[in-house]
Amino acid sequence: MLFRSTLLAISLACTTAAAADVADSRYQALDINPARAKFNYQMLCQGCHIPTGEGGRGVPNMNNQVGYFLHLPAGREYLVRVPGSANSALNDERLTELLNWTLLEFGGSSLAADWQPYSVAEVTAARQQPLFEVIEFRAQLVEQLQQANYPIDP
Ligand code: HEC
Repeated sequence: MLFRSTLLAISLACTTAAAADVADSRYQALDINPARAKFNYQMLCQGCHIPTGEGGRGVPNMNNQVGYFLHLPAGREYLVRVPGSANSALNDERLTELLNWTLLEFGGSSLAADWQPYSVAEVTAARQQPLFEVIEFRAQLVEQLQQANYPIDP
């Protein structure tokens, strides 16, 4: 019972906190339920990525950064193939929603005005191939992006 009421309290708090977000047309346009996406982020991601998405202790900062990866096909796949995403307990629809929410929430100046949100089909395909050499793979992407003059942090 205690567990149930705690969960209820958490989801009520999320619903209230996200009420302002629901009005956000960016979420509506992408068919994102921001309260649900945020809840999933809180449950599955923020333990490492922290609530603000700034990371730390080996976890990269996503603020004004994460959107740069979308400029490379391998970078688009990377955001899905990274273990936290690919191996999450979320189904393909919810992971797609969470990734698009993450980009809107933290992408900031790194997100191009004409960015293409993830489709469920794209996420379904990419997560079949989770990454193993993640740090090396990320470093190569960052190098390519920097060479293309995107101001992404290492
Ligand atoms: C156990 C800690 C941990 C958890 C939990 C976690 N991540 Fe991560 N995440 C990382 C680390 C560390 C990286 C950097 C790449 C690497 O070394 O794996 C990363 C990288 C990422 C990236 C790419 C950002 C970049 O700049 O490289 C995305 C997107 C991401 N995670 C999404 C998620 C999502 C979505 C969830 C929840 C469903 C999640 N992660 C859960 C640790 C975590």
